[in-house]
Amino acid sequence: MKNIVLIGMMGCGKTTIGEILAKKLNMHFIDIDLYIENKYSMSISDMFEISEEYFRICESCCVEEVSKLENVVIATGGGVVQQSQNITYLQQNGWIVYVERPVENILQDIHENHRPLLKKGKDYFYELYQKRQPLYIKACNERIRNDGTLDDVVMKIIDKYQKK
Ligand code: S3P
Repeated sequence: MKNIVLIGMMGCGKTTIGEILAKKLNMHFIDIDLYIENKYSMSISDMFEISEEYFRICESCCVEEVSKLENVVIATGGGVVQQSQNITYLQQNGWIVYVERPVENILQDIHENHRPLLKKGKDYFYELYQKRQPLYIKACNERIRNDGTLDDVVMKIIDKYQKK
């Protein structure tokens, strides 16, 4: 079976959903943001202090490494779709799910940790969403709405994964 790769905006639930999915399917779980921080021994905020470009280079390098693993659920960072090469890596051995959550819901409970881009404000977040939405749709094999309970969304993903 292929890896399950979760893509979508910051705060759409990729990490929480990914952890539950991995437990239920007896797969490993990898959060790329954490993987990056561990590999470079640096926080994402500090990487952005150097430059966003620096962070994106590190991110791509980690995406390439993680894409080679097997039997993993991978939670990606929201900006992973900005470089098409990342999607090429992830598609090699991955089934890609776009976790869609209404932006209004995201903005109600999102936190800034790991997310320097949030400091740019709500308008910027909406702009990012408009820019990325078509990229998420193009990159994914399946779109799943996260607007009910966590159990619902996890069961929807498992159902589609087993039928694919
Ligand atoms: C980013 C999302 C973050 C993290 C970094 C950049 C983005 O990950 O990779 O702050 O560009 O949307 P999450 O989507 O896990 O918050």
